[in-house]
Amino acid sequence: MMGAGKSTIGPRLAARLGRRYVDTDQDVEQCAGRTIAEIFAAEGEARFRALEREAIERASGDGAVVALGGGAIAQPGAVRRLRARGVIVHLDAPIGILLGRIGDAAGRPLLAGLGPRERAAKLKALLDARRAHYAGAHHRVDASAAPDDVVARIEALLAGRPARNHQGDGASARPPGKASKAMKAQVRRTRSAKPTSAKLRGQGSRRASVEVALAERSYAIELGHDWLETAGRRMVELLEVEKVAIVSVAPVARRYAPLLARGLAAGGARVGRILVPDGDSAKNLRELGRLYERFLDQGMDRHSAVVALGGGVVGDLSGFAAASFLRGIPFVQVPTTVLSMVDASIGGKTGVNLSRGKNLVGAFHQPRGVFIDTATLASLPMRERAAGVAELIKAAAIWDEALFAWLEDHIEAFLALEPEALLHGLERACAIKAEVVSRDEREGGLRRLLNFGHTLGHAIEKHARYRGILHGEAVAIGMIFAAERSEALGSAPVGTAARLAALIERAGLPTAIPDRPRQAYLSAIGVDKKRQGSGIHFVVLKGIGRAGTVSLRPEEILPSGWRANRRA
Ligand SMILES: NC(=O)c1ccc[n+]([C@@H]2O[C@H](COP(=O)([O-])OP(=O)(O)OC[C@H]3O[C@@H](n4cnc5c(N)ncnc54)[C@H](O)[C@@H]3O)[C@@H](O)[C@H]2O)c1
Ligand SMILES: [Zn+2]
Repeated sequence: MMGAGKSTIGPRLAARLGRRYVDTDQDVEQCAGRTIAEIFAAEGEARFRALEREAIERASGDGAVVALGGGAIAQPGAVRRLRARGVIVHLDAPIGILLGRIGDAAGRPLLAGLGPRERAAKLKALLDARRAHYAGAHHRVDASAAPDDVVARIEALLAGRPARNHQGDGASARPPGKASKAMKAQVRRTRSAKPTSAKLRGQGSRRASVEVALAERSYAIELGHDWLETAGRRMVELLEVEKVAIVSVAPVARRYAPLLARGLAAGGARVGRILVPDGDSAKNLRELGRLYERFLDQGMDRHSAVVALGGGVVGDLSGFAAASFLRGIPFVQVPTTVLSMVDASIGGKTGVNLSRGKNLVGAFHQPRGVFIDTATLASLPMRERAAGVAELIKAAAIWDEALFAWLEDHIEAFLALEPEALLHGLERACAIKAEVVSRDEREGGLRRLLNFGHTLGHAIEKHARYRGILHGEAVAIGMIFAAERSEALGSAPVGTAARLAALIERAGLPTAIPDRPRQAYLSAIGVDKKRQGSGIHFVVLKGIGRAGTVSLRPEEILPSGWRANRRA
């Protein structure tokens, strides 16, 4: 809270610990090259919060002491995210002391222009609103003491020394003995304490969580490594249903359904299993009908839920079944492909194909939760991994240059399934999709940016009759094309496409446009369903990490003289 002494305590604590001190507000301003007020005015609070999150991430990445802006902790999911990144210390002081320190509130926009009594009322309201969030801190420290005492107190807590004659002992949930190790680990951000026994499997590794903020339909994407069984128990807690059906495909069910079912049963649910055929062609009305029949066979009713275990096909098909069975029952997603982890499982789009086109029937039905176990990727063929990485690269290219740069450093580690790399890359990509979906649930504009690379990508898939080329591979090629067009249209600086192509190539993805006549691509693009009127919302990059749309006719996307094998 303002007045608690962050900017006094923070630098002193950092000096004592030999760590960097970061004030996230200042960091955001520095990186953005403008003031917070300007960011709010030009791009809105959501953008500021995204920048703030990045600042926190940067700072926690090298173990800094971080002073958070006052509102940060009250953001949806913030406590969980922050807890996963480090140790949260709540500087607590009685309201009288806070008011005394704040004085006439100079430089405090929230209290500006208020008289003493109104200031007190406003501060109390803020405290009340934030109390629940502060309770998520690892430690509460009495910040009414002298600064050096407060600093010493925090230092002791971080080192795990027992509390001495001080009531602000942070009432940590951990037993004091265990606290020391656990917290030092967090300060160093050693995120995956190696599991030491079978009992600890999946418990000791770092978890992450990303909030998809959609008012009463909000949910969390929870990520971890090797934690399917625990995840199963969490699902039952979350769903509060008596009966669940795991819907999956054979190669996935064989490996992962037993663990998941055990967790679900341990949580108290009766568990049924339903297999659907593998492959995109299973996303059809006949399989949908069969699913309803199986639901009925298994006695599913309104107090039942669907657990979608598999890639995007399982998620889309069983999600649509959940959306429509008995006019809608809850479901959770347990994505097992990179593509479904970062894309298909998030955002609530469900549906099936018709013989005349893909995804022509469906519904928006948000899952109650998305549970990602990165260990399931071990069995996913490399080609499928890379195809999913194409969507991850896409997310970075349109939204997050820091993630793009991170990928440039870690793409091999990610593809080799190093748990830390998986967790970081997936978490960031999920956060991007979550943010875009939160701001535009039903594809009003922003969500269109996710179609970057898809205009040509869809055309390539169509010409291949969806055989021999994976969606992500087609998108990879489409992204390079779109980036080159962005340069040609003067939207992106020269070099953008080359940087993108280099990363795509390192991911083992194809880069060359299949050689077909311009006319063939023109007609395929022309019937793309994203088309509106005579123009197509073509997604262009403005640089790495920033995108926009321009309305173009197919002939402008593929100007005369364009040849597939001679790019852009
Ligand atoms: N709803 C959305 O917003 C959205 C977004 C993007 C894509 N999609 C849809 O998603 C689908 C593509 O998803 P996908 O790429 O995950 O394809 P997929 O579900 O077909 O999975 C790809 C292959 O990998 C196998 N597999 C899955 N997990 C595995 C694992 N852990 N180990 C071994 N094998 C595994 C599957 O059996 C399948 O053969 C398409 O139907 C597409 O339309 C939906
Ligand atoms: Zn896609």
